Amino acid sequence: MRKPLVVGNWKMNGDKALTESLCVGIASRSNRLRNIDIVLCPPFPFLYLADACLKKSTVSLGAQDLDANTNGPFTGQVSASMLNGHNCKYVIVGHSERRVNNAETDQLVSRKTQIALEHHLIPILCIGETTEQRKAGQTEQTVIHQLQNVIDHTGIGAFNDIVIAYEPIWAIGTNITATPDQAQEIHSLIREQLRQQDKKIANDCRIIYGGSMKPENARELIAQTDIDGGLVGGASLNSDDFFLICQAALSD
Ligand code: PGA
Repeated sequence: MRKPLVVGNWKMNGDKALTESLCVGIASRSNRLRNIDIVLCPPFPFLYLADACLKKSTVSLGAQDLDANTNGPFTGQVSASMLNGHNCKYVIVGHSERRVNNAETDQLVSRKTQIALEHHLIPILCIGETTEQRKAGQTEQTVIHQLQNVIDHTGIGAFNDIVIAYEPIWAIGTNITATPDQAQEIHSLIREQLRQQDKKIANDCRIIYGGSMKPENARELIAQTDIDGGLVGGASLNSDDFFLICQAALSD
């Protein structure tokens, strides 16, 4: 039985006041959400404050990215051990906004996944196709290629400790959500790819969906056999909406 997981990715939004109100808004209700895992990923400067606000709750802290190196002359970058120092449990790797805006390659995403694992951070590995790739019938090969690249680097065993997020790029921040059938089709493909390499890992690995998930569509998406939760951007900036999405995951 896979425990549902809902992750809030605030992206480059918020300030101290919003960090406090979102964290308190979720943490204060987290005792009603004990049967799912909840993670909040604020921007780096607010990790310290978020950690303090989440202290007595069951909500975990995550980061939106990390550097592939352990330390050194990498101005502006943040290392895995720095995230450890802020009690982060999870870290997002390979988000499409980083792949596109920061030219992150599959190789770099694989290295980031590896360094996260070495520091006992749970990587939330994002994979997904662009509109053009979908239109060209390349969705499956794109997603499988991105996934296999990481498997080849870390070994399949590492997927005991990795969460996969399927995020079709055309659905991110667009208000166009993949239909439950569209999402399930790719989630099952991803699980099949894992299954060919390790049946138990395929069965246990959490694969969450991201892309315009909202209170109105979360329940139906998470009800799909191979969808184990959500990676939520926009709707995670409102604690009531995010709480409703968490509740939808709970009732799955
Ligand atoms: P969205 O973002 O929910 O705003 O579409 C999801 C994500 O990018 O993780």
